[in-house]
Amino acid sequence: MLDLEQLETDILARLEAAESEAALEEIRIETLGKKGSISEKMKSLGKMTPEERKEAGPALNGLKTRVGDAIAARKDVLKAAALDARLKAETVDITQPVRSGPADRGRVHPISQVMDELTAIFADMGFSIAEGPDIETDFYNFTALNIPDEHPARQEHDTFYFNEKEDGSRMVLRTHTSPVQIRTMQSVTPPIRVICPGRTYRCDSDQTHTPMFHQVEGLVIDKEANLGNLKWTLQEFCKTFFEVESVEMRFRASHFPFTEPSMEVDIRCERVGNELRIGEGDDWLEILGCGMVHPNVLRNCGLDPDEVQGFAWGIGIDRIAMLKYGMPDLRAFFNADTRWLNHYGFRPLDLPTLFGGLSA
Ligand code: DAH
Repeated sequence: MLDLEQLETDILARLEAAESEAALEEIRIETLGKKGSISEKMKSLGKMTPEERKEAGPALNGLKTRVGDAIAARKDVLKAAALDARLKAETVDITQPVRSGPADRGRVHPISQVMDELTAIFADMGFSIAEGPDIETDFYNFTALNIPDEHPARQEHDTFYFNEKEDGSRMVLRTHTSPVQIRTMQSVTPPIRVICPGRTYRCDSDQTHTPMFHQVEGLVIDKEANLGNLKWTLQEFCKTFFEVESVEMRFRASHFPFTEPSMEVDIRCERVGNELRIGEGDDWLEILGCGMVHPNVLRNCGLDPDEVQGFAWGIGIDRIAMLKYGMPDLRAFFNADTRWLNHYGFRPLDLPTLFGGLSA
């Protein structure tokens, strides 16, 4: 029986040294497999005398069981060690800051932000959004707006003209959003309540002017829309947009060919150093032009001035963005400098709403 003891010692030593489940499997095959060392010895039982078998049988069975148990036990140890190693290797340090994705790093341009704010404010008042093309005909940009040929307002606009067509007409880059008024009145039956935000173009460039800029046009047409309604609408807009309790406004008589009467609107403000405070102080700041839509404009759109009337206004979006967010130089808006955008831009998921706060 000595050789069984030796065999057992060897097998157990090999099992102890096995470092992987594959190595264990190899030992199992070499010992308990069909041609394994223990199985071979089992086969020899048949050739033994009954006396020999009586002793060798239980000894061999005992060996077989112990080796089987030892393999299973070693397997458990190796499995636990493998799991331990994996857990260590895959540890996540939850105290580390979360790596930022595009939604954290990206910034919404202040112009887009202000357009979203305008949309939120006027949508709440029941306005819808209207749009028109950036490249306009002379008719929509001027004539229909009661600015006939040779009218001095044409010169004031520093218009970008396209080359003359064969028929002598020239397309223009729209100099204001007012042509969208015309397109809207032509296609929508009153009552009309729209705002028209968009790009506009004039050949002009300095700290507060860029050749491409943005305006938002407002238009209300129905049977009795009047100056009182206009004043209330603009007052509500200014309070909500500048996020102040009250804004004092001054309506100054002015002139636009497409409105009669026409007014320019100033809001009360105060300049303290570089800071501009809206709604308090002794200073006035011009922010928009407005008026009652001129009867000629209504007629040019196929509407009857004896039947319908209304008011309109136009605001420079870049200008009110600069005022609200304290950005001194308009040219920086269009430089595509990501440092500027990181500083003045807005987080993409902080959508402006009236209930959640416009710029919160
Ligand atoms: N279109 C004018 C401009 O660009 C702004 C404006 C003034 C629009 C008065 C209006 C308005 O609708 O009523 O200078």
